[in-house]
Amino acid sequence: MYILGINAAFHDSAAALVKDGRIIAAAEDERFTHIKHGKRPIPFSSYELPFHAIDYCLKEAGITLNDIQQFAYSFDPSLIDTSKESSNENKLNNNQTIYGEWDLLFSDYLKQAPAHLTDGYPHHLQKRFVDAGPLQDKWHFVQHHLAHAASAFYPSPFESAAVLTLDGRGEKVSTGYYYGEGNKLSTIAEVQMPHSLGMLYEKITTYLGFLHSSDEYKVMALASYGKPIYVDELRSWIKYDDNGIYTIDDIDLTSVWGKGRKKDDSFDELHFNIAHSLQKVLEETVLKLVHWLYEQTKSENLCMAGGVALNCVSNSYIRDNGPFKNVWVQPAAGDAGTALGAALWLAAQQNEYKSSRTKSFATMDHVYYGPEYTDDEVEKFLKWTKVPYRKMTNVAKETAEILAENKIIGWFQGRMEYGPRALGSRSILASPIDPGMQSKLNDIKDREDFRPVAPVVLEEDASEWFEDAIVSPYMLFVFDVKPDKADKIPAVRHVDGTARVQTINRKQHAIYYDLLKEFKAITGVPVLVNTSFNTRGEPIVCTPRDAIECFWTSPFDALIINSFLLEK
Ligand SMILES: [Fe+2]
Repeated sequence: MYILGINAAFHDSAAALVKDGRIIAAAEDERFTHIKHGKRPIPFSSYELPFHAIDYCLKEAGITLNDIQQFAYSFDPSLIDTSKESSNENKLNNNQTIYGEWDLLFSDYLKQAPAHLTDGYPHHLQKRFVDAGPLQDKWHFVQHHLAHAASAFYPSPFESAAVLTLDGRGEKVSTGYYYGEGNKLSTIAEVQMPHSLGMLYEKITTYLGFLHSSDEYKVMALASYGKPIYVDELRSWIKYDDNGIYTIDDIDLTSVWGKGRKKDDSFDELHFNIAHSLQKVLEETVLKLVHWLYEQTKSENLCMAGGVALNCVSNSYIRDNGPFKNVWVQPAAGDAGTALGAALWLAAQQNEYKSSRTKSFATMDHVYYGPEYTDDEVEKFLKWTKVPYRKMTNVAKETAEILAENKIIGWFQGRMEYGPRALGSRSILASPIDPGMQSKLNDIKDREDFRPVAPVVLEEDASEWFEDAIVSPYMLFVFDVKPDKADKIPAVRHVDGTARVQTINRKQHAIYYDLLKEFKAITGVPVLVNTSFNTRGEPIVCTPRDAIECFWTSPFDALIINSFLLEK
């Protein structure tokens, strides 16, 4: 049975196609439309569906919309309170609102999604749209946090696990506690909006002059430069009741710290210290929640999802200080992952799965669920564009030689990644040996100077280069660079001595793994710098055309697409 999962309510619009418990395809709409995050999370854009991502999923399976038996949409508009009795004033007073006076519009837009999918299917994509008739009978709205929880538990390597979801907002919930066992996922407790660690992080992201619901990872990077000056203040705003429930005071930040930073202002100590204090308080609060969840479940496994679970520093704090033996985080932990989660949650409700005492879903051990291109397709395009290129005989070896010459390359291989991280399919790669490489890359990508770049390391060599490193294929955890290796890979060592590591094995991505092997053979270093193949404000590239456009308009030295090398 084909189930199509859709995320579209807020942002990070995405689609995921699941068949008989297996992931067939999953992708974010931004990669096709070139609009970062798909859209801004505002009520007026909530009707927009990820048509391009949906279309790609259908194409990958060679099917049309008619072949989809069930549709799972990762937000349930019936859970938003838009009744007349609940006036806008009341709603605003108790803050049980998402968009204030626009909640009704928001909820109406979402309810019309089935009709929009059939009637709005773009003309140029209609090859894969055959009149599917009304979809209402096949359509399911899945509670947002259940979708996050399902995305964390079902593809995890565990038969049973505690599950924690943390994001900005759902219909009413901001934090969810669950227990998964076999195909069953039960809710233990929920924290209601407006109390939300995600929204607190967003609010401070805005205060620091960044774009909320987008640039939170920059605040995390900024935190490493600060001191915990404001932890007492931040702590005092968060009240925790020892039952897993917390509240957060609605504080006017300008009354505490003065006027916020504007987008183009420079950074000073205040900004670094606020970011640092926020990070510390986030970590200690999440740790409390995790301890409470452990007491309820006594499981040795923890799964996490939701935008806050993209905070790799906080994840690592939980891993190192929490009560759980194993921690698995859904790599598409943000809202994009709810497309997959909604589809998996719906699959688990089907009769054939309901009775099963063991989990019927394949473990997700990579994120390569997006489009790929054959050598024939790529070469046809290269010839058409008249760009100079040559076909390589040994891609891994020749690319490693280029990297060992300290050149910076675009690397385009295999199926595109699902989730926010480039993990070797659409990456910019460089040597970590050059201490100046971080600033060179930040310059090439037009990024802020404080932004770190991250390493990919051969899985079998990870523990030799990073303290207590374990398998970590998604860059969702940090590890300390071993002191005796620090001067060998200076480019990937953040100011606090850590690195956000991706480990890679051959099963996950053969050519990427082979490249690291060859680089190690030349340099003795089994590590490369891996950053996403995009420039500032642009989503990660998807097609060979995107890659070539990005390459020729940025100062990279070379581009490798499949077997083909383009050099400047
Ligand atoms: Fe979410």
